[in-house]
Order: sequence, then structure tokens, then C-alpha cells
Amino acid sequence: MAQDNTLQAIISHAKEYGFIFPSSEIYDGLSAVYDYGPWGVELKKNLKDLWWKYMTQFHEDIVGLDASIFMHPKVWKASGHVDSFNDPMIDNLDSKKRYRVDHLIEDYAESLEDEEKEALLIKMEALLGEEKFEELSALIQEHNIKCPVSKTANWTEIRQFNLMFSTKVGSVADESSEIYLRPETAQGIFVNFLNVQKTSRLQIPFGIAQIGKAFRNEIVARGFVFRMREFEQMEMQYFIRPGTQKKWYEYWKEQRLNWHISLGIPAEKLRFHDHVQLSHYADMACDIEYEFPMGFRELEGIHSRTDFDLKNHQEHSRKKQQYYDHTLDENGKPYGNYIPYVLETSVGLDRAILMILSEAFEEEDLSTEKREDSRSVLRFSPKVAPIKLAVLPLTRKDGLPEIAKELFDSCKLDFKCFYEEKDTIGRRYRRMDALGTPFCVTIDHQTKEDGTVTVRHRDSMEQERVKLEDIKPLVLNAIHS
Ligand code: GAP
Repeated sequence: MAQDNTLQAIISHAKEYGFIFPSSEIYDGLSAVYDYGPWGVELKKNLKDLWWKYMTQFHEDIVGLDASIFMHPKVWKASGHVDSFNDPMIDNLDSKKRYRVDHLIEDYAESLEDEEKEALLIKMEALLGEEKFEELSALIQEHNIKCPVSKTANWTEIRQFNLMFSTKVGSVADESSEIYLRPETAQGIFVNFLNVQKTSRLQIPFGIAQIGKAFRNEIVARGFVFRMREFEQMEMQYFIRPGTQKKWYEYWKEQRLNWHISLGIPAEKLRFHDHVQLSHYADMACDIEYEFPMGFRELEGIHSRTDFDLKNHQEHSRKKQQYYDHTLDENGKPYGNYIPYVLETSVGLDRAILMILSEAFEEEDLSTEKREDSRSVLRFSPKVAPIKLAVLPLTRKDGLPEIAKELFDSCKLDFKCFYEEKDTIGRRYRRMDALGTPFCVTIDHQTKEDGTVTVRHRDSMEQERVKLEDIKPLVLNAIHS
């Protein structure tokens, strides 16, 4: 995945303006781990709140859950992650670098003409799907794919590498005390399926939503917060009657695509990609892809997981994971006992943040014939913007800060405001542009005379006079539209 100029510019902007920092930076950082700064954390919280509301408020048949990161080790045996959560890897004997086989081939394919590239990728996906590693090795040799570091094709055999992090629990470090950091939040939902169903009294179909951290020992970490070792997922498992999965699969595909569009993402920058290589648990699966600066990449997975997870948990725990369905079938008989099927939607929160940043970021040339000028701006939808309103008194005297603080206080319970007195008004506007603040309000001497303020709009940079009491409704309207 090439880190093109735009991605580099976004990474620099995110650091400079307090959105995202490399983890433990004073120790030179930790690969594929990042920290969210003051404005990144607001952005992230806004996105989480929007997803949470959309799932648990907008859909009356979905409830929330917050399961723990540590789970009984048998969970990961039952889910298939101990045996199957692997990536095929290959090592270069000269550089000692390790690569994910699909990334190595994909990067090489970028150098080919469209037709040849497509043929290679189709072949690769098919071989990966059937785990034909000898043939994949032959494919790498046939194309003479070289290590980007050593520039040689001196490769090892392809081997499977498990992506789960493990650690020890308690003081006795024997094998029985080994536990895993969850690689997905979904299993916390599956093992609580009956707890939630019984306590919420929901009937099938119903869903359980969860936001939380997941951990994967990604070998090749690339693309900023696109591929991290510690990241957050927003997952929803929708429990359905077996046989109805096609209908719900189509329903959730549409719902989720529209959610991204509702954040201000243009429809043409989103697309579906059907999986050729299905995960160990799925009978139908696709990704919603977004056109990141490095090209179309997976943003969210929609998976029809059948009864794979609940059935396996039933087997491994020896606890029934069944549901009694009172609904009558076409013969007038209740559907009765069954293990529900599951339709899953799973979006990476950090990937969604990268999408929002990529879509919003612009280095705008404002040069005129008379002078050169430019600005960095984040054109966030007011819904997700970390700061909704900046309140800026023109000067620090003449009672202007007092009026500004009054406005700030009257808005701060409803949305995030920012107050600043320092610097010229032009510089303050530019700083707010860089943080993506949709509205700035300037309190000046005219405010004292007629109770109006200047509202400066981030995107158009236009300014208008508005009554003080109309500011709050104006911002609220923009957030909720
Ligand atoms: N429960 C299903 C599941 O975990 P997945 O396709 O492996 O499915 C779902 O992951 C989503 O999680 C992805 O679409 C992506 O947005 C996000 N994700 C996966 N691995 C990630 C990583 N290493 N860094 C950031 N986000 C990741």
C-alpha cells in the first residue's frame, strides 16, 4: 500500500493539530499503535455516538453491550480463531523481512497493466481461498516478485501465522493460564446472546451492538490508522431465523452504506466488494470499501455468519444456545427451537476516522493576482466536527470578552465550543479551519450597539451578521440536519 502524498499530508496535519500522535513518541514510537489527541478524541467520540445512536436508538430491536477484552480461552478455540485466524506469511532470506503474501503480491500487481493486474489478483484470491501455498509460491516465482528491501527473490516457504496476542493470567505461568487479547469484539456478543435475549426480552430478529478495542498482531502494519495492532471496532450481531439470511444481508448492506453517506461521504467513493475467499465462519460476505488516498480499501465488513459461532459455543461450553420461536410457520405451527443465524456488521472505528479525515482534508490555494495565500482546512460535517463553534471576541477589552463568555456559556451544554482571545482574528479563523470548526463567531463593538455578531462560515469563508440569540439554533440546526 503506497503512502501517497495526500496520506502523508493527513498524517502530518493530524499530528500538528492534535488529532493523532504516534504512540510513545518520545521513545521513537511503537509500530502500528497510535494515540488520539484532544481533537482526535472528540472526533472519535462523535463518530461513536452517531453509530451508537443509529444502532440502539434508531433501531428499536437493537440493544447495547460492553463485554470485557479478556475472555475464557475456550472462546477462541470455539470461534475458530486459535486454529484459523492466520495470515499466510513469507520471509525473505536476505533482508530477513516478513511479508503477508497477499500484500506482497498486491504491491507487485500495482506495477502491471490493468488486465494483467486483475488476472493476477483473481488467481491470488482463489489460491489463498483454497490455501494452496505451493502454488502461491510458484506464482511469486513465476512473476519474479522481489523483496522491496533486499531486491532479491530468495524466499522461504509460505507459512501460516496466527494474529492473536496472548498473555498470562495469574501468578502461575503454565499453559493453562494463557489468555488472549480479543481479536474481534463479536465473541463477547455471542457468549452473552442468551443473557441479553432473556433480560431485554427481545424476540428474533434482534441485534446486539458493541464498541470496543480489538488487538491483532499485524505483521505488516501500514497506512497510518488503517491497519493497527490495537484498534476499535463497532460491531453489531443481528440474530435471525435460519433461512432468512439473504434478506437481512441485503437489508444491512443498504443500511450501512447509507450510514456512511449520511456522514457526508460521497456515494461514488464507496462501493461493495464481494468476498471470494470467505472467512471460516461466513456463507456470504462483502466489504464496504472507501476510496482512501491509497485507493479503494475495506472500511466495513458485512458477514452472514450462519449459526457457526453459537453452534460452536454450544458444543465447547455444553450449554444450549437455543431460542424458542413462537412465530407460526406457513402450516400454522411455531418455528420452535433453533440456534439462530447471525448477520454481522463490523466497522473499524479508526478506519472510519481515516475516511472522515481523508474526505475532509484540503490544502486550499487562495492566491489572488495580488498575493499568494493558502489554508489547510478540514471540511468536516458539523455532525462529526470536534468543535462546533468558536467564540472569538475581537479585542480583550471594552466588555467584548464578557459578551463572548455569555454566549459560550449559553451554548456549552448543547455542543462543544471553543473560546479564544489571543492573536489576530484572521489567524484565529485559520486555526479553526485547520481543526475543522464549521462556525466562528466574532463579537465586536457593533455587538454592543445592536446585539449582532459576525458568523464566519468555514467552507465558503463568507461572513454574515446574525443576532446573538440566533447563534445556538443556527449551530444546532447544522448538527442535526
Ligand atoms: N467480527 C468480524 C471482524 O472482525 P474483520 O473484517 O476482520 O471482521 C472488521 O474486521 C473491521 O475491523 C474491518 O472492516 C476494519 O474496518 C477493522 N479492522 C480490522 N483489522 C484492523 C486493523 N488491524 N486496524 C484497524 N482496523 C481494523
